[in-house]
Amino acid sequence: MSEHLRAYPVSASQSERSEIIFPADANPIGNLFGGRLMQFIDLVGAMAASRHAHTFTVTAAMDHLDFFAPIHVGNLLILKASVNRAFHTSMEVGVKAMVEDVREQRLRHVSTAYLTYVAVDPNGNCVEVPQVIPETEHQIRRYESAGRRREIRSAETQHKKDPRATLSPEWHP
Ligand SMILES: CC(C)(COP(=O)(O)OP(=O)(O)OC[C@H]1O[C@@H](n2cnc3c(N)ncnc32)[C@H](O)[C@@H]1OP(=O)(O)O)[C@@H](O)C(=O)NCCC(=O)NCCS
Repeated sequence: MSEHLRAYPVSASQSERSEIIFPADANPIGNLFGGRLMQFIDLVGAMAASRHAHTFTVTAAMDHLDFFAPIHVGNLLILKASVNRAFHTSMEVGVKAMVEDVREQRLRHVSTAYLTYVAVDPNGNCVEVPQVIPETEHQIRRYESAGRRREIRSAETQHKKDPRATLSPEWHP
């Protein structure tokens, strides 16, 4: 890490977003579309990543997305995002989605996702990010797990890049 980059605690960039689910976001049986939930997850994840990096970020990958339980029209959805770990120009952000039962005052965990964001300058060039300081027991555990996930992810990314490199020009984005 460059000397000019400070490290910041996880708590400095933790982000939260709340949504009431309307019929326009639902499938024919009244549950929230998975793709809409992915959008909410990406938005709250980007908030945490950009706050931590102090610059723009782009989503490089979303992995390990579980849908544990359906989210119904009328539910109050709460999404919480934390930067689990920063690497060189990328960060792993964990997002937890919960439904709040306002009558029982209880939270139901409905989804968890891990996303990788890359910090970029206004021209889209990747830039270095500050390191993360995990402070609580949970944050330390997530920091360590993020390192293990990065190793798996790096191997997969390389594996996917190899066949792409062999595509003819019209198949490249
Ligand atoms: C993400 C992106 C900037 C990476 O660019 P690149 O030229 O592949 O850059 P590099 O290979 O040098 O990788 C840069 C960082 O991204 C990480 N990265 C790249 N692809 C990744 C992937 N598929 N999954 C996880 N991390 C990835 C690398 O590990 C590296 O991290 P590090 O600097 O912390 O070690 C580029 O692929 C891109 O612009 N993708 C489109 C992003 C986008 O439009 N998202 C949706 C809208 S926000």
